[in-house]
Amino acid sequence: MKQTSLTKNLVGQTTDNVPIWLMRQAGRYLPEYRDVRAQAGDFLNLCYTSDLACEVTMQPIRRFDFDAAIIFSDILVVPHALGQRVGFVQGEGPKLDPIQSIARLNDFNQDDFLSHLSPVFEALDKTRTALPNDKSLIGFSGAPWTLACYMINGQGSRDYANVRHFAMSNKEEFKKIIQLLIDSISIYLVEKIKAGADTLQIFDSWAGVLSTDEFYDYCVLPTKQIIQNIKKIYPNVPIIGFPRGVGFNYQTYISETGINGVSCDQSVPLEMMKNFQSHVCVQGNLDNMLLRQGGQAMIDQAEKICQALSEKPFIFNLGHGVIKETNPDDVAKLVSHVKNFKKGRVNNAA
Ligand code: CP3
Repeated sequence: MKQTSLTKNLVGQTTDNVPIWLMRQAGRYLPEYRDVRAQAGDFLNLCYTSDLACEVTMQPIRRFDFDAAIIFSDILVVPHALGQRVGFVQGEGPKLDPIQSIARLNDFNQDDFLSHLSPVFEALDKTRTALPNDKSLIGFSGAPWTLACYMINGQGSRDYANVRHFAMSNKEEFKKIIQLLIDSISIYLVEKIKAGADTLQIFDSWAGVLSTDEFYDYCVLPTKQIIQNIKKIYPNVPIIGFPRGVGFNYQTYISETGINGVSCDQSVPLEMMKNFQSHVCVQGNLDNMLLRQGGQAMIDQAEKICQALSEKPFIFNLGHGVIKETNPDDVAKLVSHVKNFKKGRVNNAA
């Protein structure tokens, strides 16, 4: 296992300083990202051009000295590599040709799948070379449920009612889609480790719309299978899970999936996160809206989070990704506060 402040916390140790990175730390709130984005034209072209993907991955590291880089890509490259049409419409988000059956995808072939994604692996390799040795490189994937949401609905939705309706009315076909995703995500993440990722994160951004039973079947069990598949090959690479918005069900996710770390959204009470720390490393959970506002309220909440969680395995992050209206200067202030946080005594630096 690579030894970084991130991986140490993820395997149950603590470090002198609180490690920090932010979901969507690369993106449109950074002027240097907007420049590269304009140069790339199409968003998928940015994801599939390894030099550009490496460059935007490194931008927030250079600017803020985060403890981890997350490889720049998108969760929707997986459905794309499976043969689905995926596009990104400026200002509207992703648009896919919706599917209702795996027959609409290419017949799964591991070599073709991996060769479609080879620029992502090249970007990882280049970033590993560019990244200081004491920093982690995170590889990620969407979880089966969240990918199925986009694949079946074709675009974002508030509640994915169409997808839940499809799963209830076509249970067997839905399970086939989930199984295909379990298999392909496992292969994808193993390959990311081979290419240089020392930590993985699985984003289940839409887990919060599921009932408790659906959550178990479509989030917990698939995640557990993916983790088992990866750990068979790389038992020591830590994996973070992010079942966003699942409330009390975070507990089930932690006890059943075999995850090393759990990323918590901003609705999770710090007391609950403290309880999770008896079992796993916790990551989170500053409200991305507080970061967008900047100012003293952001600093006060960051301080409260560090005070509550820093004595046990903990990684500072947001409850969800950086919003595009965020001021980079506020990110710099947040990072400086967390990096200067001294464990074990009351910090008045705020
Ligand atoms: O810095 C990082 O965190 C790595 C980059 C990253 C992106 N997408 C880049 C991106 C990561 C980890 C993702 C994951 C992702 N993508 C998720 C899971 C995390 C989450 O936020 O819940 C989801 C649900 C998606 C799907 C997706 N991709 C949406 C809904 C959108 C549009 C939303 C928006 O902000 O416009 C995207 C596009 C996207 N992915 C952008 C970026 C920087 C913006 C596209 C652009 O530059 O025009």
